[in-house]
Amino acid sequence: MAAAPEPVVREAVLQAVVQAPPPPELPPFPTNEMPLTDIVLPGLAPEGDTLERICADIGDCTRCRLSQGRNKIVFGVGDPNTKLVFVGEGPGADEDAQGIPFVGRAGQLLTQMIEGTSAKEGIPLKRADVYICNVVKCRPPENRTPEADEMQICGQFLFRQLSAIKPKAICALGSTAAKALLGGKDGVTKLRGKWHKWNDIPLMVTYHPSYLLRPYNQEAKRESWEDLKKTLHFVYD
Ligand code: SF4
Ligand code: URA
Repeated sequence: MAAAPEPVVREAVLQAVVQAPPPPELPPFPTNEMPLTDIVLPGLAPEGDTLERICADIGDCTRCRLSQGRNKIVFGVGDPNTKLVFVGEGPGADEDAQGIPFVGRAGQLLTQMIEGTSAKEGIPLKRADVYICNVVKCRPPENRTPEADEMQICGQFLFRQLSAIKPKAICALGSTAAKALLGGKDGVTKLRGKWHKWNDIPLMVTYHPSYLLRPYNQEAKRESWEDLKKTLHFVYD
């Protein structure tokens, strides 16, 4: 993964969110045509917000430059009433082609980890029982790390998804998700394995599955497994 984006993302989004008055009715959402400077983000959790509404607000989004190279917007998949949400970085080639998050090699590993760990721990959980999404909904060119402004713009949709679902816990996969949700500069090695919070929702940070696919990261694989075990027991015990 490339250089870390500046930790302005969460602060900037939250600041804008705090400044926005809670809407009595859902306000018109910023449109594709609005210059960025005119965009006032709606409240973090507008009353009555739903995944359908968020998806409709995204529409055929061109709010950031990632729209230029994408094929499909990858909104998110899973149970909207779930207790557990996984957040990755952004779509790769397979996800961009199918419009579904984590369906490529890293996605297959994530699915195996969720289903394998829960089976071992006696928790009946399938991939379809959780919700899976990304910080940015469009594939960054050459799979580069999303830039700070892209994370800030698209992050509003992630924040709304999390606020609409209100899971019991969130699992951030990798440094980009951790930075988008926690702010700060710390990477996974520092943050992983411990509970943090995103707006009062407990948040676990662990390695991104694509990192675990590299053959020399076997120790990280074991650690991820521990992190996931801890998360699953907290959520489902
Ligand atoms: Fe819109 Fe997000 Fe795609 Fe950017 S990454 S164009 S903000 S949906
Ligand atoms: N990596 C991610 O961060 N997200 C995906 O959806 C696929 C790969």
